[in-house]
Amino acid sequence: MSGLQAIRYSRGKLEVLDQLRLPHEEHYDVVSTSEEAFDCIRSMRVRGAPAIAIVAALAHSVELHNGRCSADTAQEVISHIDSRLDYLKASRPTAVDLSNAITLLKTAIRAARVEGLAHPEARETILNAYIQAAEAILEKDLYNNTQIGTYGANWLQEQYNARPGHKISVLTHCNTGSLATSGHGTALGIIRTLHQEGLLQHAYCTETRPYNQGSRLTSFELVFERIPATLITDSMVGALFSQHRERQSIGAVVVGADRVVRNGDTANKIGTYTLAVLARYHGIKFVVAAPTTSIDLETKTGAGIKIEERRREEMTQISGAVVNSDGTVDPRRTERVAIADQRIGVWNPAFDVTPHALIDAIVTENGVVLKRADGEFNFKEVMPERW
Ligand code: MRU
Repeated sequence: MSGLQAIRYSRGKLEVLDQLRLPHEEHYDVVSTSEEAFDCIRSMRVRGAPAIAIVAALAHSVELHNGRCSADTAQEVISHIDSRLDYLKASRPTAVDLSNAITLLKTAIRAARVEGLAHPEARETILNAYIQAAEAILEKDLYNNTQIGTYGANWLQEQYNARPGHKISVLTHCNTGSLATSGHGTALGIIRTLHQEGLLQHAYCTETRPYNQGSRLTSFELVFERIPATLITDSMVGALFSQHRERQSIGAVVVGADRVVRNGDTANKIGTYTLAVLARYHGIKFVVAAPTTSIDLETKTGAGIKIEERRREEMTQISGAVVNSDGTVDPRRTERVAIADQRIGVWNPAFDVTPHALIDAIVTENGVVLKRADGEFNFKEVMPERW
């Protein structure tokens, strides 16, 4: 696992790296209550589908461990946990990991009532069941990501079997690395694994306007890991692909997901759809890396996905650290500046939906999902219990 950690947890204590301050300053916030977690997620101090779910689950675990549950009976504890989880679910609507984690946690506390709710130890049993299930989400996520890295790197390598020793270049969007997960990352995890195995020629990352997850966070991770990489703005992707067309030197676009629905339509960071169209036009593989926690089999098509719309200021203003006259950056002096006429109308959807027709493969921790004869993705093989 990389040294970068978005989430630091030990039983009773949760610290979350404030991603609004990156890449200039590494500051951890202590998150001890559901309200603090809600605020941390809503304000995007922590973001990325798996990380959001983990922080919500663990913040409530810390709350329960530290005795912040006044409910007396086991039944009241269950109701208390349910209502806290329902509250946390509203923090950000598009990523399904949070909602899947909540279902898992609610199931875990109900499964723990083995002796019956009236049993004198039932209250403690339920609290412990919650804490253990929340901690398991953190551990499982790291496992998921390393698996995705291996499956994704192997699959990409297989696409180039005709040319042994061929290293591939990959373009990614947004941030899907250690900062968006418990560690290693999903799409960025595949890039990391390709690099570790000597199979990566070069990584390209998009700036990812308007929140700049690519320039602020992915660049930071790539530099930190010494992965050969280049930052481009979102509007440069078409030019990059066309320059590489003759040499076929961009092997794949690899992105993460906030919600993959039953037919494979995928909600991810705004701009992903544009990349998929461009990739198809240029004959470049388009790969989604998504743990099964990001898959929503209840929703049939992308039309059913709620897309979060965010504040106008994320587009009309920007903050950053002050650059001194000698070119050095002063991380202690940050400034917020206007970059548009503040009266302009703004539309700021945080995500878009890429139709499954434009996706070549979906890499999960249980394997690579490809399309059935009807053109839809065959999730049955990787998640038979939820199919
Ligand atoms: O708005 P964000 O930064 O939470 O959006 C993040 C993304 O879109 C990621 O691609 C997705 O959550 C996958 S993170 C492993």
